[in-house]
Amino acid sequence: MISQPGQRLAHDHAQLDALLKQLQQALKAGDLKAGYTTLDLFWARLAVHIRAEHLHLFPRVLSRLSKPVNQTVGPSLSQAQSVVDDLRADHDFFMHKLAGAIGTLRDMTNSDDVAERLKTIRETIIEVEKRLLVHNEIEERQVYNWSTALFDQQEQIELLTVINKELAHYPSRFTFDTWATVTESKAEEPIVQ
Ligand SMILES: [Fe+2]
Ligand SMILES: [Fe+2]
Repeated sequence: MISQPGQRLAHDHAQLDALLKQLQQALKAGDLKAGYTTLDLFWARLAVHIRAEHLHLFPRVLSRLSKPVNQTVGPSLSQAQSVVDDLRADHDFFMHKLAGAIGTLRDMTNSDDVAERLKTIRETIIEVEKRLLVHNEIEERQVYNWSTALFDQQEQIELLTVINKELAHYPSRFTFDTWATVTESKAEEPIVQ
């Protein structure tokens, strides 16, 4: 079973995935404006998601495993550390690749090789999508589940609270509606609780 903090983050994975699909549609259609706005939003939302994992989820899980008290569930500290190290390397990869794609898309308006550059950006986004799929699955199956096993209900509520706070902390260039609403699922409730 996935814990409340895990459910919250897994829900964010689904929203990011929907946003990524919209980005791919815009790029496929050659719509530079929509491509840029969607990529900017996807990048920013992924950055905030990653920050919540770095600042709150990963340290709490590792800290608990470093002081096991009759621990019969979850991985060993070294197993968890190695999984988290890999996940952090993925995060660096995503941010680096997306920053490059944003830079290219931003400077493209007057360029005369739009088709070629768009092709490169689309390839980068596919690379990010493939690695993100595996990454999210590892998080949901391992780290998010460990938080259920390791934390009592009170600790999970505390973790959920700080994660929600982090996810609601969006850059000022976005409006709340832009930030919280993924177009494909307008009927859904806003993600910020
Ligand atoms: Fe992650
Ligand atoms: Fe995640």
